[in-house]
Amino acid sequence: MARIAVVGSINMDLVTRTPRRPRPGETILGTSFESVPGGKGANQAIAAGRAGARVDFIGAIGTDVFGTALRNVLADNEIGAEGLRTIEGSSGIAAIVVDESGENSIIVVGGANAALTDLTAADLAIIAEADILLCQLEIPVDTVTAAARHARSNGTLVLLNPSPARPLPASTWSTVDIAVVNEGEAAQLDSELGGVAHVLTTRGGSGASYRGPEGDFHHPGVPVAVVDTTGAGDTFTGALAAHWHEGPETALAWACTAGALATTAFGATAAIPTAAEITRVLRDRGEPGTTSVPANG
Ligand code: RIB
Repeated sequence: MARIAVVGSINMDLVTRTPRRPRPGETILGTSFESVPGGKGANQAIAAGRAGARVDFIGAIGTDVFGTALRNVLADNEIGAEGLRTIEGSSGIAAIVVDESGENSIIVVGGANAALTDLTAADLAIIAEADILLCQLEIPVDTVTAAARHARSNGTLVLLNPSPARPLPASTWSTVDIAVVNEGEAAQLDSELGGVAHVLTTRGGSGASYRGPEGDFHHPGVPVAVVDTTGAGDTFTGALAAHWHEGPETALAWACTAGALATTAFGATAAIPTAAEITRVLRDRGEPGTTSVPANG
């Protein structure tokens, strides 16, 4: 079982559903509103855990009512939360609009995530003991840099999902072993990604591709009935990390399948599939990874 440390964000997603997303300056009527746990860090942690990994989460919540719900969602998913601190003030939130096709628009307000500026000795020990450090860019870049440097110097692989894309020092990129980007980020970060050993590019419903020492290959999209794409990329990344030790081809099959299944239900964390659900689809499709079913899946 892979051991994964996530240093990242945790948000309450405030999700409105509408027939279509509004144009600038336009007011339209929505059809529903729900608040559901999310945040790229938490989504990826839960996805890795449900795909079979042992996961520790290092992040921050606020003292508001959302903070309690966010702490609970980590506990419900058996994610280690020794590194979760509570910061006076608001938790991170994401204002999300999902349209009839399942496509979304998201605005994130960092809240407590922005205060994750120091890694404690306990956090550093968790990172050093993990097989993979998983980071995104919804927390301060300096914290990502410190975590990645510590991981690199302790033999922990660094998997970065540079989303939302923003400038990172070259010295941080040099610590990254594996990057997961969507097509927009791939174009934006072309030169930075050139120095990363393993690059995985997600292509929405068309699947994802791998470029690295194992060659160049593509995994086709897994056909599903899409309800909500929120968190699909996070689910891809978490499942990839959980199965990376089985090689990029098998990990990519797990990631593509998990990411597709995550779009078939509403909400970022609620829709993340379990190892058993992913395995069923892998088996039906005769995919690599079919034999690596965790006993607790
Ligand atoms: O990737 C989806 C996530 O982005 C949402 O859960 C939201 O919180 C934002 O962080």
